[in-house]
Amino acid sequence: MNREWAAILRSKWFPASVGITAALAIAGLLVGFVVLPLADRNEQFHSVWDAICSAAGLIQNAAREPVVQANYPTTRVELTPRMLRGASAESIGRGATLALRCTMCHGARGLSEANTPNLAGQYAVVIYKQLMDFKTGARVSAVMAPLVGDLSDQDMRDLAAYYAYLPRVPASRPAGEPPQIVASGAPLRSIAPCGACHGELASKPGAAWLEGQPFDYLRTQLQDFASGARRNDIGEQMRNVARGMTVAEIDAASRFYAGLRGPTGSQADASSKQH
Ligand code: HEC
Ligand code: HEC
Repeated sequence: MNREWAAILRSKWFPASVGITAALAIAGLLVGFVVLPLADRNEQFHSVWDAICSAAGLIQNAAREPVVQANYPTTRVELTPRMLRGASAESIGRGATLALRCTMCHGARGLSEANTPNLAGQYAVVIYKQLMDFKTGARVSAVMAPLVGDLSDQDMRDLAAYYAYLPRVPASRPAGEPPQIVASGAPLRSIAPCGACHGELASKPGAAWLEGQPFDYLRTQLQDFASGARRNDIGEQMRNVARGMTVAEIDAASRFYAGLRGPTGSQADASSKQH
């Protein structure tokens, strides 16, 4: 055995084969850890060492990227699941008095006849957060801004308690199936079904009750989230959804939640009557 090894070591092929293997290994490492990462146009490395670390799965770049700051007012409200639950009768009563100045547009019992959003039965956290956002300018509305300027934090809690306590708009869902975008979202565009956040049983804190809201109001809000004109949603939750929606989907979802029939209105109405 020893003699065989000695013969192998002495052979002139031995250094050549070791050399070729080593050269291939080094070339492979260079290609895998340096050439290919540097050739990736989506990545911008500061140095060859960064490229090597990235190829090895250690992300070093991120920490050095400048953090993008919003250059507009963002919401200052933090929401927790049990926030504003269990309002006292006193708070609801105070809210009812304060709400007298809201009835002109939001209706006597929080149900508006016009295209103003219904407030009756809305989650208290939604009312509270939206009022705060109107006040800080995180949600821009020329109509609402002057009305909330003099409301204190307690006033907003009381108004939220009062409107949450009022009965919702009577169920006005159309008999038909919800449109695709509402029922199952659009997984390829990372859009969860609307009910995942706005659902009857499970709702994300701050995601509004949508059923029975006026069609024009819903559609405008979705368009505004999509364009970025409305940007008070925490973590861009709703902007990310709306940006990925098509015009037809925005229309269909708004019609569905407003309790109107069919995805395209009168046409769909007409065709559904033929059955
Ligand atoms: C002059 C009409 C008018 C009056 C008065 C008014 N609102 Fe509004 N309110 C609106 C309009 C219009 C909107 C929708 C704003 C938008 O499109 O962004 C709105 C939106 C809201 C929203 C957001 C609802 C949601 O679902 O996001 C809340 C909450 C609200 N109003 C509460 C109040 C309260 C409380 C008062 C009384 C202090 C009040 N409003 C008085 C017109 C009015
Ligand atoms: C990831 C959770 C999430 C999903 C999925 C989602 N939403 Fe929202 N949505 C929110 C949140 C949170 C808000 C409240 C934003 C804020 O703070 O003002 C909101 C607000 C809205 C509003 C404004 C309501 C109002 O009165 O102010 C509309 C309209 C709306 N969503 C429609 C939809 C529709 C339609 C879908 C499905 C295509 C959908 N959302 C899917 C989280 C979600």
